[in-house]
Amino acid sequence: MSKHAEGASEGAQRKIYSAYDDPGTAEEISRRQFMAKATLTVSGLIGLGLVIPIVGSLLPEGSTAAGNWAPLTADELKTLEAATAKPIKLTFALKAKDSYLPEQTSQEYVWGIKTDEQKFIQARPDVFTNGPTGKPDVPYDVVNMGFVIFSPLCPHLGCRFNWDDSANKFLCPCHGSQYTFEGEHVAGPANRGLDPLPLREQSGVAEIMWIRYKSTVADRIVISYQS
Ligand code: FES
Repeated sequence: MSKHAEGASEGAQRKIYSAYDDPGTAEEISRRQFMAKATLTVSGLIGLGLVIPIVGSLLPEGSTAAGNWAPLTADELKTLEAATAKPIKLTFALKAKDSYLPEQTSQEYVWGIKTDEQKFIQARPDVFTNGPTGKPDVPYDVVNMGFVIFSPLCPHLGCRFNWDDSANKFLCPCHGSQYTFEGEHVAGPANRGLDPLPLREQSGVAEIMWIRYKSTVADRIVISYQS
Protein backbone atom coordinates (compact mmCIF):
# COMPACT_ATOMS: atom_id res chain seq x y z
CA MET A 1 0.00 0.00 0.00
CA SER A 2 1.34 3.45 -0.82
CA LYS A 3 2.14 5.89 1.97
CA HIS A 4 -0.66 8.10 0.73
CA ALA A 5 -3.22 5.24 0.85
CA GLU A 6 -2.02 4.18 4.36
CA GLY A 7 -2.47 7.70 5.61
CA ALA A 8 -5.99 7.91 4.18
CA SER A 9 -6.97 4.57 5.85
CA GLU A 10 -5.63 5.63 9.28
CA GLY A 11 -7.50 8.90 8.93
CA ALA A 12 -10.77 7.05 8.20
CA GLN A 13 -10.28 4.74 11.23
CA ARG A 14 -9.53 7.71 13.49
CA LYS A 15 -12.81 9.25 12.25
CA ILE A 16 -14.76 6.09 13.11
CA TYR A 17 -13.22 5.84 16.60
CA SER A 18 -13.77 9.49 17.26
CA ALA A 19 -17.41 9.14 16.19
CA TYR A 20 -17.90 6.54 19.01
CA ASP A 21 -15.90 8.65 21.45
CA ASP A 22 -17.96 11.73 20.72
CA PRO A 23 -20.77 11.94 23.33
CA GLY A 24 -22.76 14.25 21.05
CA THR A 25 -24.51 17.52 21.82
CA ALA A 26 -26.50 18.09 25.01
CA GLU A 27 -29.71 17.66 22.97
CA GLU A 28 -28.51 14.30 21.58
CA ILE A 29 -27.52 13.07 25.08
CA SER A 30 -30.89 14.06 26.48
CA ARG A 31 -32.72 12.33 23.56
CA ARG A 32 -30.72 9.12 24.14
CA GLN A 33 -31.49 9.19 27.87
CA PHE A 34 -35.19 9.71 27.14
CA MET A 35 -35.25 6.77 24.70
CA ALA A 36 -33.47 4.53 27.25
CA LYS A 37 -35.99 5.43 29.97
CA ALA A 38 -38.93 4.97 27.58
CA THR A 39 -37.63 1.52 26.58
CA LEU A 40 -37.29 0.51 30.25
CA THR A 41 -40.80 1.78 31.06
CA VAL A 42 -42.40 -0.06 28.11
CA SER A 43 -40.51 -3.27 29.00
CA GLY A 44 -41.67 -2.94 32.60
CA LEU A 45 -45.31 -2.51 31.55
CA ILE A 46 -45.12 -5.52 29.24
CA GLY A 47 -43.58 -7.55 32.07
CA LEU A 48 -46.34 -6.44 34.47
CA GLY A 49 -49.00 -7.38 31.93
CA LEU A 50 -47.55 -10.88 31.82
CA VAL A 51 -47.01 -11.22 35.56
CA ILE A 52 -50.57 -10.29 36.65
CA PRO A 53 -52.35 -13.13 34.75
CA ILE A 54 -49.64 -15.57 35.84
CA VAL A 55 -50.03 -14.61 39.51
CA GLY A 56 -53.83 -14.84 39.09
CA SER A 57 -53.51 -18.35 37.71
CA LEU A 58 -51.48 -19.37 40.76
CA LEU A 59 -54.23 -18.42 43.23
CA PRO A 60 -55.66 -21.42 45.10
CA GLU A 61 -58.56 -23.20 43.45
CA GLY A 62 -61.83 -21.45 44.21
CA SER A 63 -59.98 -18.62 45.93
CA THR A 64 -62.34 -15.70 46.45
CA ALA A 65 -59.37 -13.36 45.92
CA ALA A 66 -59.79 -13.63 42.16
CA GLY A 67 -63.55 -13.25 41.72
CA ASN A 68 -66.06 -10.39 41.92
CA TRP A 69 -68.62 -10.12 44.67
CA ALA A 70 -72.11 -9.30 43.36
CA PRO A 71 -74.83 -7.88 45.64
CA LEU A 72 -78.25 -9.47 45.92
CA THR A 73 -81.14 -7.01 46.00
CA ALA A 74 -82.91 -6.51 49.33
CA ASP A 75 -86.05 -8.12 47.81
CA GLU A 76 -84.17 -11.26 46.80
CA LEU A 77 -82.60 -11.57 50.23
CA LYS A 78 -86.09 -11.24 51.77
CA THR A 79 -87.40 -13.97 49.46
CA LEU A 80 -84.51 -16.22 50.48
CA GLU A 81 -85.10 -15.49 54.17
CA ALA A 82 -88.78 -16.38 53.74
CA ALA A 83 -87.94 -19.61 51.90
CA THR A 84 -89.00 -22.91 53.39
CA ALA A 85 -88.46 -26.27 51.70
CA LYS A 86 -88.14 -24.90 48.19
CA PRO A 87 -84.99 -23.54 46.57
CA ILE A 88 -85.10 -19.92 45.42
CA LYS A 89 -83.75 -18.67 42.11
CA LEU A 90 -81.75 -15.51 42.70
CA THR A 91 -80.81 -13.22 39.81
CA PHE A 92 -78.04 -10.67 39.97
CA ALA A 93 -75.78 -8.51 37.79
CA LEU A 94 -72.47 -10.23 37.22
CA LYS A 95 -69.61 -7.89 36.46
CA ALA A 96 -66.63 -9.35 34.67
CA LYS A 97 -63.35 -7.64 33.91
CA ASP A 98 -60.87 -9.24 31.59
CA SER A 99 -57.33 -7.89 31.91
CA TYR A 100 -57.45 -6.26 28.49
CA LEU A 101 -61.15 -5.50 27.92
CA PRO A 102 -63.59 -3.03 29.46
CA GLU A 103 -65.80 -4.26 32.30
CA GLN A 104 -68.92 -6.10 31.13
CA THR A 105 -72.16 -6.79 33.00
CA SER A 106 -74.44 -9.75 32.39
CA GLN A 107 -77.52 -11.11 34.15
CA GLU A 108 -76.96 -14.39 35.95
CA TYR A 109 -78.78 -16.49 38.48
CA VAL A 110 -77.96 -18.99 41.17
CA TRP A 111 -80.07 -21.23 43.41
CA GLY A 112 -80.33 -20.52 47.13
CA ILE A 113 -81.57 -22.83 49.86
CA LYS A 114 -82.32 -22.11 53.50
CA THR A 115 -80.77 -24.84 55.58
CA ASP A 116 -79.51 -25.93 58.93
CA GLU A 117 -75.70 -26.15 58.92
CA GLN A 118 -75.46 -29.57 60.61
CA LYS A 119 -78.15 -31.00 58.36
CA PHE A 120 -76.33 -29.74 55.29
CA ILE A 121 -72.98 -31.13 56.46
CA GLN A 122 -74.61 -34.54 56.97
CA ALA A 123 -76.29 -34.40 53.56
CA ARG A 124 -73.20 -33.31 51.64
CA PRO A 125 -70.09 -35.15 52.89
CA ASP A 126 -68.64 -34.67 49.39
CA VAL A 127 -68.22 -30.95 50.14
CA PHE A 128 -66.30 -31.54 53.36
CA THR A 129 -62.89 -33.15 53.31
CA ASN A 130 -63.02 -35.04 56.62
CA GLY A 131 -66.67 -35.83 57.09
CA PRO A 132 -69.02 -33.90 59.37
CA THR A 133 -66.25 -32.30 61.44
CA GLY A 134 -64.08 -31.42 58.48
CA LYS A 135 -63.59 -28.20 56.62
CA PRO A 136 -65.23 -27.48 53.27
CA ASP A 137 -63.22 -28.71 50.29
CA VAL A 138 -63.49 -25.19 48.89
CA PRO A 139 -61.60 -22.25 50.47
CA TYR A 140 -64.73 -20.48 51.72
CA ASP A 141 -67.61 -21.16 54.09
CA VAL A 142 -70.35 -23.12 52.37
CA VAL A 143 -73.17 -22.37 54.84
CA ASN A 144 -73.53 -18.67 55.60
CA MET A 145 -76.35 -16.85 57.40
CA GLY A 146 -78.27 -20.16 57.26
CA PHE A 147 -78.14 -20.31 53.46
CA VAL A 148 -76.29 -22.24 50.79
CA ILE A 149 -75.94 -20.90 47.25
CA PHE A 150 -75.57 -23.31 44.32
CA SER A 151 -74.16 -22.67 40.88
CA PRO A 152 -76.96 -23.21 38.33
CA LEU A 153 -74.62 -25.27 36.10
CA CYS A 154 -74.94 -29.04 36.14
CA PRO A 155 -71.55 -30.56 37.14
CA HIS A 156 -71.95 -33.15 34.37
CA LEU A 157 -71.62 -30.97 31.26
CA GLY A 158 -72.77 -27.54 32.40
CA CYS A 159 -76.46 -27.52 31.37
CA ARG A 160 -78.80 -25.51 33.55
CA PHE A 161 -80.97 -27.66 35.80
CA ASN A 162 -84.31 -26.74 37.39
CA TRP A 163 -86.11 -27.45 40.61
CA ASP A 164 -89.03 -29.83 40.17
CA ASP A 165 -91.70 -29.58 42.85
CA SER A 166 -93.32 -32.94 42.16
CA ALA A 167 -90.00 -34.84 42.17
CA ASN A 168 -88.73 -32.70 45.05
CA LYS A 169 -85.36 -32.60 43.29
CA PHE A 170 -83.23 -30.56 40.94
CA LEU A 171 -83.49 -32.20 37.50
CA CYS A 172 -81.12 -31.63 34.64
CA PRO A 173 -82.89 -31.74 31.24
CA CYS A 174 -79.78 -32.74 29.26
CA HIS A 175 -78.80 -36.22 30.47
CA GLY A 176 -81.02 -36.79 33.47
CA SER A 177 -78.79 -36.04 36.45
CA GLN A 178 -80.77 -35.47 39.64
CA TYR A 179 -79.88 -33.72 42.88
CA THR A 180 -81.62 -33.42 46.25
CA PHE A 181 -82.61 -30.16 47.93
CA GLU A 182 -79.10 -30.03 49.49
CA GLY A 183 -77.52 -30.67 46.07
CA GLU A 184 -76.53 -34.29 46.66
CA HIS A 185 -76.12 -36.19 43.38
CA VAL A 186 -78.61 -39.08 43.35
CA ALA A 187 -79.06 -40.09 39.69
CA GLY A 188 -77.61 -39.57 36.22
CA PRO A 189 -74.09 -39.30 34.82
CA ALA A 190 -72.71 -36.37 36.89
CA ASN A 191 -69.60 -37.13 38.95
CA ARG A 192 -70.32 -34.87 41.90
CA GLY A 193 -73.08 -32.96 43.69
CA LEU A 194 -74.05 -29.36 43.03
CA ASP A 195 -71.32 -26.76 43.47
CA PRO A 196 -71.75 -24.38 46.42
CA LEU A 197 -70.71 -20.77 45.79
CA PRO A 198 -69.38 -18.15 48.23
CA LEU A 199 -71.90 -16.00 50.10
CA ARG A 200 -71.13 -13.18 52.54
CA GLU A 201 -72.77 -10.27 54.29
CA GLN A 202 -71.14 -6.90 53.72
CA SER A 203 -72.54 -3.78 55.46
CA GLY A 204 -76.01 -5.31 55.60
CA VAL A 205 -75.94 -6.48 51.97
CA ALA A 206 -75.75 -10.14 50.95
CA GLU A 207 -73.16 -10.74 48.24
CA ILE A 208 -72.38 -13.80 46.20
CA MET A 209 -69.50 -14.77 43.98
CA TRP A 210 -69.74 -16.56 40.65
CA ILE A 211 -67.31 -19.41 40.11
CA ARG A 212 -67.41 -21.83 37.18
CA TYR A 213 -66.03 -25.24 38.11
CA LYS A 214 -64.79 -27.80 35.64
CA SER A 215 -67.52 -30.21 34.52
CA THR A 216 -67.41 -34.04 34.33
CA VAL A 217 -64.75 -34.51 37.05
CA ALA A 218 -65.31 -35.42 40.71
CA ASP A 219 -63.08 -32.63 42.12
CA ARG A 220 -63.97 -28.95 42.10
CA ILE A 221 -61.45 -27.28 39.81
CA VAL A 222 -61.95 -23.59 39.04
CA ILE A 223 -61.96 -22.75 35.37
CA SER A 224 -63.40 -19.23 35.43
CA TYR A 225 -64.86 -16.43 37.51
CA GLN A 226 -66.96 -15.31 34.55
CA SER A 227 -70.29 -16.46 33.20
S1 FES B 1 -75.39 -31.75 31.70
FE1 FES B 1 -76.70 -32.27 33.31
S2 FES B 1 -76.85 -34.40 33.14
FE2 FES B 1 -75.56 -33.86 31.53
